[in-house]
Order: sequence, then C-alpha cells, then structure tokens
Amino acid sequence: MSYEPLALTPELHQYLLDHSTPPDQVTAELIAETRAALPGEASMQVAPEQAAFLRLLTSLMGVRQAVEVGTFTGLSSLSIARGLAEGGKVTCFDISEEFTGIARRYWKRAGVEDRIELRVGPAAERLRELPSEAYLDLVFIDADKAGYPTYWNELVPRVRPGGVLLVDNVLWSGRVLDPRSEDDRTITTFNDLARDDPRVELVILPIADGLTMARRRNG
Ligand SMILES: C[S@@+](CC[C@H](N)C(=O)[O-])C[C@H]1O[C@@H](n2cnc3c(N)ncnc32)[C@H](O)[C@@H]1O
Repeated sequence: MSYEPLALTPELHQYLLDHSTPPDQVTAELIAETRAALPGEASMQVAPEQAAFLRLLTSLMGVRQAVEVGTFTGLSSLSIARGLAEGGKVTCFDISEEFTGIARRYWKRAGVEDRIELRVGPAAERLRELPSEAYLDLVFIDADKAGYPTYWNELVPRVRPGGVLLVDNVLWSGRVLDPRSEDDRTITTFNDLARDDPRVELVILPIADGLTMARRRNG
C-alpha cells in the first residue's frame, strides 16, 4: 500500500460529528428514546453519521423507490424517507412489532408516515412479495447477518441499473480480519460473495461499522 490510511480515533470521530450537519430535533429524540427504552439493543441503531449519509445519498440520487431490510426503531428509514423525491416511497421489513412500534411514532412525528410502508415478518419470505422487475433505486440491508446472502440475492435483481445497494456492519468491529466465530464467518462469506458478484461494482466505506456501497451495473 502506497499510503498510510487514516486511523479514526475517538477524538477524530467526534470532530467529524461536530463538523457534519447535526441531527434535527426528531432524530435526536429518536436516538435518545431508543437508548433509554432499549439499552440492551440500542447499539443496533445506525450511527448518526450514517443517518445523515442515508438522507444525503437518497436526495442526491432522486430516489423514488427504496427498500430497507432491518428497521428497528426507525432511524435509517426516517433518514431515507426524508431524502426521497416527491411521491417517493420506502418499503421496510422487520420481524419486530415492538421495535417498529417506536419507529411508527417517529415517522408520524416527522410527517413522513405516508412515504413508508412497513411489512412485518421474516424478510427472507416477505421480500419475495416485491415485484420481480428491476425497479428499485436504493436498497439498505441492516437485519440479521445470517440473512444477508438471501437478502442480497433477492434484491440485486430488483435494483435498476445504476441503482445502489448499501449493506451495514460489513467490517464487523474489525473481526473480518480474524474470523473466529460462525457470526464472524457469516460476514466474511458475505463480503466475498458481494465482491465477486459480477452484477455490481462496489466499495466498502469505513463509516461506523463498515458500509458496502454497491452500484448495479448496466446490462
Ligand atoms: C441492526 S437492527 C436495524 C437498525 C435500523 N436500521 C436502524 O436504523 O435503527 C436489525 C433489525 O433486524 C430485525 N430482524 C432480525 N431478524 C430479521 C428477519 N429475519 N427478518 C426481518 N427483520 C429481522 C430486528 O428486529 C432488528 O430490528
């Protein structure tokens, strides 16, 4: 390697947060309520800088049709919904009524509930209900890691050429370098599968726990 990559220290991480557009009131309250109500699960929530990135990318791409797998208390879906073009829609999948009950309240508070459709149930089954043509502009995958290959293979054919798939937690707290558990190997196996998929070109962004950004190739 001909350059030294920048190590993101806690101080540098705080600096980048301090110099990015701050979360608005509804977003800040959703983050706070998730941490207070679900302390054991709150770390599942996307990082604030990922939420900002999702909104920015959605808006830059003029997204009209998006799918999210793994909604939890709604931060990533709220961010996508806010970036959608006029008349746009995000379809969300999650198995938990409890977690998504919080999400529904915040979508309403933010005035975006009419742009979000939630489908509750195992995503591997429910994704098959989606139209089979390549109509999606944006996909965000952030659910159970064992399901990643299935979600990827259900969704890649449904993304239009030039559309984008994002996949969260692909650096797995760094354990991809020395995978010891079955969970670790689930992620490394998925990363190999995505890199070797001729239908996409991709880059792993070192944001939060690692985010794959893949573009569906033409043809
Ligand atoms: C990492 S969290 C998602 C965080 C969310 N993107 C956010 O911004 O806060 C993972 C979610 O996947 C859901 N999940 C787990 N297994 C699932 C499955 N088989 N089908 C659908 N959702 C699932 C969980 O209920 C949980 O809410």
